[in-house]
Amino acid sequence: MTTSEQIFNTLVLPYLNHAARMYESGYASKTDIDLAMRFGCGYPQGPLTVVDGLGPAVVRDQLAARYAETGDALHRPAELLEKLADEGRSFADDGAADDAPPAEPRHEIGTVGVVGTGTMASGIAQVFAQAGYDVVFVGRSQEKLDGVTGYITKNLDKAVAKGKLAEADKEAVLGRLRGATGREALADVDIVVEAIAEDLAIKTELYKDLDRICKPGAILATTTSSLPITQLGDATSRPEAVVGMHFFNPAPVMKLVEVVTTAATAGEVDETVKALCAKVGKVAVSCGDRAGFIVNCLLFPYLNDAVKLHESGVDLATIDTAIKEQAGFPMGPFELLDVVGNDVSLAIEKELYTEFKEEGFAPAALLEQKVAAGELGRKTGRGFHDYS
Ligand code: 3HC
Repeated sequence: MTTSEQIFNTLVLPYLNHAARMYESGYASKTDIDLAMRFGCGYPQGPLTVVDGLGPAVVRDQLAARYAETGDALHRPAELLEKLADEGRSFADDGAADDAPPAEPRHEIGTVGVVGTGTMASGIAQVFAQAGYDVVFVGRSQEKLDGVTGYITKNLDKAVAKGKLAEADKEAVLGRLRGATGREALADVDIVVEAIAEDLAIKTELYKDLDRICKPGAILATTTSSLPITQLGDATSRPEAVVGMHFFNPAPVMKLVEVVTTAATAGEVDETVKALCAKVGKVAVSCGDRAGFIVNCLLFPYLNDAVKLHESGVDLATIDTAIKEQAGFPMGPFELLDVVGNDVSLAIEKELYTEFKEEGFAPAALLEQKVAAGELGRKTGRGFHDYS
């Protein structure tokens, strides 16, 4: 019998350790790591705050016990965790406070372009239109454009039915949206947010075209979660204007945007994008151009571990329930995998494995099998759970 506490220890402790290592490595600040997991995944607390709450020594000892059992390098307590535990200190009192000051917009943003017609693109178009921006969204056919308007209308109808939005405001939001099947419609926008297929060749072709079409000074933002943004910038004559804006699913609800700068991104572009995030009610964190950024790098190894735990014989519902009860996460790992899509999750896990070369990051065999069987999650009616 596997108890909820054992499931928490198996899945959540390595995640906490991983967050400690990310901070220790200097990739992201304490504040940004905690904000990212709270606002990107809806966790009640960020991982470093969780470690402080449990006590660094307690977390270190439990991880050390697991490491003795598994020999998995990912379970060996992070050096900083060892140090804090030995010194009786916490993450809160390690180093100086690292909250970033509010960013000031350095470019005027009036009109926003969105490229793509999938769930993320539709949600992003809704976010900007609801915040009062005129939005031009570009898709490959009228049918796909209608899909975006349908998605947003459905969300707004729900808000009206709940009494959270007036009918007139719904019409105003829809009135700010203009669909187009030609990219030339993006000639005058101040920023383009691209959310098309996660394929470097397809995105590179788009960036070359955006560079040709968009006016000088326009910002070109990508929502990629795993492709090198530096290469997208290099496909243009304006790498200083290319930046990552990684939204989370569902975009109208999740408040996080990871703002990813490359070595070439101009400081004023970074500041403008962060200020824009604040204007549309999102929380921005700073990331470097590396696979997984903050959230996916911490989230997907945990989801992968959950699949491996299930492979070892623990049933799905037991794991989902234990995580919601013990960790307070809004969804269990299999519920979330089914929302994100097993194909998307597998692609992200492969990227992380390639980038970090940690044996423990190798995608679970069952995840590969689910994808091969076309059981991708909610979108196909069946993933780990059945939605038919
Ligand atoms: N689109 C728009 N709005 C939605 C929505 C959707 N798909 N799903 C839910 N909502 C809205 C509801 O209308 C409701 O709005 P209200 O508060 O104004 O009435 C609100 O969200 C809460 O919804 P519910 O009460 O129906 O449901 P829950 O309380 O269960 O919350 C949830 C739903 C917010 C999705 C919550 O389960 C959650 O936070 N889940 C975690 C999701 C997560 O981890 N996302 C990150 C995935 S990783 C990723 O995106 C990265 C990428 O690179 C793969």
